[in-house]
Amino acid sequence: MAKITTSRLLKMKEQGEKISTITAYDASFAKIFDQAGIHAILIGDSLGMVLQGENDTLPVTIEDMAYHTRCVSRGVEETLVISDMPFMSYATKEQAFVNASKLMQAGANIIKMEGGSWLVDTIAALVERGIPVCGHLGLTPQSVHVFGGFKVQGREHDKAQQMIAQAKELEQAGVQLLVLECIPAELGKAITETVSIPTIGIGAGKDTDGQILVMHDALGISCSYMPKFSRNFLVDTGDIKKAIELYISEVSEGNFPGPEHIFK
Ligand code: KIV
Ligand code: NA
Repeated sequence: MAKITTSRLLKMKEQGEKISTITAYDASFAKIFDQAGIHAILIGDSLGMVLQGENDTLPVTIEDMAYHTRCVSRGVEETLVISDMPFMSYATKEQAFVNASKLMQAGANIIKMEGGSWLVDTIAALVERGIPVCGHLGLTPQSVHVFGGFKVQGREHDKAQQMIAQAKELEQAGVQLLVLECIPAELGKAITETVSIPTIGIGAGKDTDGQILVMHDALGISCSYMPKFSRNFLVDTGDIKKAIELYISEVSEGNFPGPEHIFK
């Protein structure tokens, strides 16, 4: 099979085919996930928590992200490679240009940034200069201290309406993918129906165009706790490649996430 691109993911949305994505941080896991048929791999700044043992993602640097992006990109052949811009690496447009370039040159195919309306100009400027962007709305972990904890977002009607409007703004700015994290399932569905780009959910219900999991959660090796929205696919399979194949088929058949994994 050929290299997966954002055009392919868009076609999957249009054809109602579910997109399965997962995080990875090194070449060995990335290679197994690629061979299992995962559609995209995210080098998430979640590496601050699952690799570095920090309490949140704020200590992660652009050098950390570029290093792990290079590791992952060496392991993959077909999978789309998404890389996270870490905390405060895109506070201004100029910072975004410098730091996004580092991730693209390390092997990312598209970079991800957390935020709504305030990011619109930065996104448009990056896309103009040849850097594709994935958005991220809902529980954006770089803002955990503003939220006062890792809490489900968009539960109030006005907050939900605001998030739908922001999703549209991001799409108009040129975002080609949109991650939705920890929001009520109905809001995940509403945003997915509103935008024409693919939405990738984590704790955002079963109606987003795709799903993403942190690999440590999907394989039951998280050092802290198992989030409500995740599932350990390794216990059912006993083999890492088979676990990821099961994850992909459960997503594609609409069995994951189940009712126990969603927020109302
Ligand atoms: O850093 C990360 O792993 C993420 C996903 C949870 C979407 O941003
Ligand atoms: Na992230």
